[in-house]
Amino acid sequence: MLERINSLETNLIAQLKSHSLFTQIDTLAWQDFLAILIQRRFLSLAIINIYELAIDALTDKAAKQTVREILHEEYPRNTKGIPLPSHRELLFQDLLNLGATPKLILTTPETSITREVRLQSYQLMINCLGKTEAQIQLIAFLRFWAEVLVAVEYSCLWQRISERLASKNSEDKPRSEFYYFHLIHDSRNSDLGQENLLGGLTHSQELGIHLKRLISSTEVLDLCITVENQAYLLKYKFYNQFLDSLQKVIYD
Ligand SMILES: [Fe+2]
Repeated sequence: MLERINSLETNLIAQLKSHSLFTQIDTLAWQDFLAILIQRRFLSLAIINIYELAIDALTDKAAKQTVREILHEEYPRNTKGIPLPSHRELLFQDLLNLGATPKLILTTPETSITREVRLQSYQLMINCLGKTEAQIQLIAFLRFWAEVLVAVEYSCLWQRISERLASKNSEDKPRSEFYYFHLIHDSRNSDLGQENLLGGLTHSQELGIHLKRLISSTEVLDLCITVENQAYLLKYKFYNQFLDSLQKVIYD
């Protein structure tokens, strides 16, 4: 039964990777590339609200606990319990290391499209509430929007990020503490239903285990497919807004 959703996910991932912005990302001027990352930060800031909404809305205890653990990872502490920089602080630091100034990051306004994508993403979750299968739709949305596709986005953006940041300690480039971490730790890594066959689980796989457990019929599967398609379209819409900067580089 999971074959349909697995092939859907594989197709949507391939389609996002083949977005013109990503296939021609090497042609972007550096400032235009930074502008994309600065807009993308607004979705990263929104992820906390998305996770908190899911925690309040989920009644499935095991799934709620997994979501809670993922959210808490956003605020790491050392072995003495002292707070370390949050993932959003690490994102800010990566942006600085990529050449953005604090002023640019903090004062660039959210575009109307970024705002639409952010609000529509939240609304997609609200729309699930009150429905019979709300639990599973919320997990399907969260896993696909906030984990699976995030890792895909960062793997595509990494083509340029890696020009100035390294994936591990290096003498000539600062290490990426945010993008590379999420590229690895959010990744889909295996088909739905195959999570237990592998070693350490990524966030996509942790949520995937709950998704598989709760998919009880083809009707429920169809609801998950619908919500994943909608999550994909929102991401696609977000990256569409930057196609102009691509054309400017190509045709100037
Ligand atoms: Fe994650």
